[in-house]
Amino acid sequence: MRIIAPSILSADFSKLKEEVQNVEIAGGDWIHYDVMDGHFVPNLTFGSGVLAAIRPHTQLPIDAHLMVECPEKMIHSFAKAGANYITVHVESTPHIFRAIQMIKDTGAKAGVSLNPGTPFSAIEELLPLVDLVLIMTVNPGFGGQTFIDTMTAKIRKVAQAKRKNDYHYLIQVDGGINEETITLCANAGAEVFVAGSYVFSTKNKTVSQQIQSLKEV
Ligand code: DX5
Ligand code: ZN
Repeated sequence: MRIIAPSILSADFSKLKEEVQNVEIAGGDWIHYDVMDGHFVPNLTFGSGVLAAIRPHTQLPIDAHLMVECPEKMIHSFAKAGANYITVHVESTPHIFRAIQMIKDTGAKAGVSLNPGTPFSAIEELLPLVDLVLIMTVNPGFGGQTFIDTMTAKIRKVAQAKRKNDYHYLIQVDGGINEETITLCANAGAEVFVAGSYVFSTKNKTVSQQIQSLKEV
């Protein structure tokens, strides 16, 4: 199973409605929505208001990746705006267990993410609870960075724990995904693939061609 989640961080912000509609027509499976607060990461993007504005224009699940400090403060507004998955970083709060529980209480699916420098052991206690584990394959904050290939060892650990314990979470990777790195991640056990610049920032190929090439490799 390969779920492709184009990240609209690399889309044209002046026409997000058309961009999400285009992703759906082009065969994308989810919309990945990167929320940055300028504190947890050195960049600022969009909040729950913009998510609410695009929500009526696509049937696809929207996956909100919160790269923010104090994510607990935003969980309810993102759920209300219509996010299907809400993912928080284990590094972003001292009370990650409570944050995950808060997400689940809204009825949204709950994801936990870890930065490249954070070991697998930091999320072990959460694995029975979460619906998604997001392994960052770049340092969060920007699109268009180079894939860190040592992250495949972490993907394998997350996949092994899933198999061994029969956990239900999906394994997602984010950062530097292209037609080559997707294979490395898929072989290690990843199932959901976020891709930003590969899908949107190409000169000669369409969004549809890029999505299909990720599915076919
Ligand atoms: C990075 C974001 C990513 C970003 C990926 O902090 O979380 O979702 O959009 O962009 P690419 O695919 O260009 O590395
Ligand atoms: Zn992301």
